[in-house]
Amino acid sequence: MSRKVSLMFLEASIVFFGVGCVWGTIMTFPSVHSFLESAPARIIVGMHSHWNLLGWVSLALIGVIYYLVPAIVGKELYSEKLARIHFWLFVLLIIITSTLGTVAGYQGGMLFSAKRFTEIEATMGPYMIMLNVLYIIEALVPVSLFAYNIRKTITRK
Ligand code: HEM
Repeated sequence: MSRKVSLMFLEASIVFFGVGCVWGTIMTFPSVHSFLESAPARIIVGMHSHWNLLGWVSLALIGVIYYLVPAIVGKELYSEKLARIHFWLFVLLIIITSTLGTVAGYQGGMLFSAKRFTEIEATMGPYMIMLNVLYIIEALVPVSLFAYNIRKTITRK
């Protein structure tokens, strides 16, 4: 049943929304906001955007699509198992990348505040490489699973 899968995505999106709003509220505190103005800490704002746009907006949209497409074409979802793999992969990657980026931004921002500029690149570099690899996986694997599952649902006999 695509309903169960849709509900997984929709429920998770609401959790991401709640956490994202608390995160955003914390960023409005004057001391936090001025910390975020330093170039290395700016990545934390990007992580907040990703958290909300991938976690809240995309998960909700995906949940709706997993429900609507089978309803429109009058067929069962091609594979609930693939959709579950898609869900866990996507959710874990959002959490891991957001955490890595935030830790990198925090450490870089602290070094910037302490005027230890020469150490920033060496500290943030490994995080940025990990982020790069994870973003490539995130952009390719869960998105392909989603597209494949929807396509097969539409074209199945
Ligand atoms: C109560 C909820 C929220 C609060 C209080 C909040 C607060 C903030 C703050 C303080 C910034 C940093 C602004 C800056 O320093 O330039 C920011 C950036 C951002 N937020 Fe939120 N946010 C919230 C929810 C959301 C949601 C739901 C989304 C998306 C669906 C979102 C998307 C973004 C984006 C894309 C940026 C980056 C803007 C930029 O790079 O200039 N936020 N938010």
